[in-house]
Amino acid sequence: METFADNIFLIGFMGSGKSTVSGLLAGKYGMESMEMDEAIEEQEGMSIPEIFKTKGEAYFRKCETSLLMSLAERRHVVVSCGGGTPLQKCNVEAMRRSGRLIWLTARPETILERIRDDHSRPLLEGHKDTEYIAAMLKERSPKYEAAADLMIATDGLDAETICSTIIEKIKEMDGEKC
Ligand code: S3P
Repeated sequence: METFADNIFLIGFMGSGKSTVSGLLAGKYGMESMEMDEAIEEQEGMSIPEIFKTKGEAYFRKCETSLLMSLAERRHVVVSCGGGTPLQKCNVEAMRRSGRLIWLTARPETILERIRDDHSRPLLEGHKDTEYIAAMLKERSPKYEAAADLMIATDGLDAETICSTIIEKIKEMDGEKC
């Protein structure tokens, strides 16, 4: 089975499709899949909203960083990062050491549609509107862009198409014409 030597880190705003794409990509390429939020929830024995509420965002950010550090020696993992993971320089550096960073983008309207009925994202509770999402996206985008090896706009695309676009672009980056 075709596979990639390095890890693949999917970065991007909440609701940009990272989790769905990472599972599919990992399945197709015989790689392991890891959802950072899920791994942190498991480790802490509580949900992300509970962690934010009882321990605070700063604690959650430390969990993200130590999880990334623990990936340093691992390979063949597709990692679905939290939306805030690439905002810290040390996290980007850790990801770069073991893999490539793929930025999945989506318009605020697409994001709102995807997260509207979800209550697992404390930073968007009470802010489910395109203006708020657009402002947060604008603030974060320069960091996502600086961190990314590749950018893929996901609006209107299904997960299969996003996956094949990722593969194609990685191959192009590697100089393998297909
Ligand atoms: C966050 C994104 C969430 C989760 C936490 C904070 C962020 O992950 O890590 O709620 O700061 O953007 P998803 O991007 O998987 O929703």
